Amino acid sequence: MKVYFPNRSSSNLNKKMLIQPMFVDQRFKVKKKIKGMGNNYSWTQSSITKAIESDLKKGLSNFLLFIVPSDKQRLPEDFSFHYDVIYNIKQKFKKDITLLIDTCLCSITPDGHCGISHNKKIDLKQTHYALGLAANTFLEAGADIIAPSDMMKNTTRYLRKVFNENGFHQSQIMSYSTKFKSGFYGPFRGAANSTPKGFDRSSYQLPINDRKKAINSSIINAAQGANYLMVKPGMTSIDLIAEIKKETLLPTGVYQVSGEFASLQLLEANKLGKYLDLLNESLNVFSRAKADFIITYGARDIVKYL
Ligand code: PBG
Repeated sequence: MKVYFPNRSSSNLNKKMLIQPMFVDQRFKVKKKIKGMGNNYSWTQSSITKAIESDLKKGLSNFLLFIVPSDKQRLPEDFSFHYDVIYNIKQKFKKDITLLIDTCLCSITPDGHCGISHNKKIDLKQTHYALGLAANTFLEAGADIIAPSDMMKNTTRYLRKVFNENGFHQSQIMSYSTKFKSGFYGPFRGAANSTPKGFDRSSYQLPINDRKKAINSSIINAAQGANYLMVKPGMTSIDLIAEIKKETLLPTGVYQVSGEFASLQLLEANKLGKYLDLLNESLNVFSRAKADFIITYGARDIVKYL
C-alpha cells in the first residue's frame, strides 16, 4: 500500500509534507475570496482545475478538498455534486496529485452540524450511514484519501467496515483524530456554510483541557483502522504530536486551521508583522514538533521557498 505521508526522521520542512486545503462551492458562478484568508478562494467547479494547475507548477501536489453543495439535505444521500467535482479533478490530474476529501456532513445538514440531529441530539446511526454513503461515493469518483472530520464515535471503524464490504480494502483514511472544540474555526465556517445552529459542537469535539482524552482519541482512531492521524488546531495541539506518534507508530500531521492562519494575515494587514515570516515560523514549529504532514492555507505561499 502506498504511504503518502511517511513518518519523517528529519525536522526540515519540505514540499511533499504540505497539504493545501481548497473549497469548491456550488453556490457561486465565479470564484470568491474567503474573508481574511489571503490567497484562498471558494472555487467553482471549473476554476478549481486552473488553480490546482498553478499550484502544481509551484511544486504543491497534495490537496484537501471541502466540497460545498448549494442545497441542504435533512438526511444527506445525494452526493452527486461531490462525485462530479472529484471525478473531474482526478481525471485531469491523475497521479500527479494526491486528493484528500474532507468527509463530513456540516456543509449539507440544515443546522450546520457534523451529524444528523433531532432535538439537539446527534443520531449516530443515521450519521454513520450518511458518512458511509459519502465516503463510498468519493472513492468511486477517485479520491485518494478519505478524511473524516465529523468527530462522532467510531466513525473510522464504521468507514473501514463499509470499505471492506464494498471492495475498497486498500482505501486510506486520514482521521481528524484529535480535534478540539475551538474558537479558531471561524473563517472556515463561513466558507463551508457550516456555522452550527441550536447547540454547539461540544457533544462531539474534544475539550481543550483534557490531555489524556485528547491522546486517547487518536489511539482509538488508530486501532479502528486510520492510516494517518492528525491534530487540530495546530498551535493548541503541538505538545500532543510526539506522544501520539510514539503510542500509535502512525504518521501524524497537524492542521493549521482557518483562525490561526487568518491571525497571521491580520497581523500583516495591521502592519504588526510580516505574513510570510510568521507563516514560516509557525510551520517550522510544527515540523520541530515532529509533524509528518502539515495542512495549511499558506501552503501555496510558502512552497516556493522550500
Ligand atoms: C468540520 C470541519 C471544521 C474544520 C475542518 N472540518 C470546522 C468545525 O469543526 O467546525 C476546520 C478547519 C479550519 O478552521 O480551517 N467538519
